[in-house]
Amino acid sequence: MTAEPVYPLGDVVITEEAIRAKVDELAARITSDYEGRRPLLVGVLKGAFIFMADLCRRIELPIEFDFMAVASYGAATQSSGVVRILKDLETEIGDRDVIIVEDIISSGLTLSYLLRVLQTREPKSLEICALLVKQGAMVEEVQIKYEGFTIPPDFVVGYGLDVAEKYRNLPYLAALEGS
Ligand code: IMP
Ligand code: MG
Repeated sequence: MTAEPVYPLGDVVITEEAIRAKVDELAARITSDYEGRRPLLVGVLKGAFIFMADLCRRIELPIEFDFMAVASYGAATQSSGVVRILKDLETEIGDRDVIIVEDIISSGLTLSYLLRVLQTREPKSLEICALLVKQGAMVEEVQIKYEGFTIPPDFVVGYGLDVAEKYRNLPYLAALEGS
């Protein structure tokens, strides 16, 4: 039997308190920008599930939810550049105010692909809310209306983000040791 690789945790990159404050700030902006409307939050699985759960409970609007699952990364920490839809929306988004909720934007390849796909369904509006954006890593330029933190282009885990499916349940964001 081959041993599973281990990924020791490194330093805390963003604390639980800082995440909470940022989530409150983003939710307040969404609440005021979408006043009188009923936006559809589209979470990108799996990474966005924790961010989405916290964010939505701070938005004071009658929001609805749907999820998509896409794959752009394997078990390793490098982008394959290949995007596949593993789970599509259940909601008809023509005429809806859609907000895509993402955990992290690195190359932007995943998101620009998603945007192209969803745009063809002619939503009334389509915006992005991303907790993290990696500085200088963007290959495909995407406009992010609601952006949490800009971080260096190192690999991070926790608060929904994984390495080989580990560490998603950490309440804060951390680096991996040696990166
Ligand atoms: P992109 O297509 O390069 O922008 O990659 C976006 C996706 O890659 C994210 O939604 C994450 O699932 C994953 N990803 C990118 N950087 C990290 C990271 O530092 N930690 C964990 N997952 C990451
Ligand atoms: Mg993701």
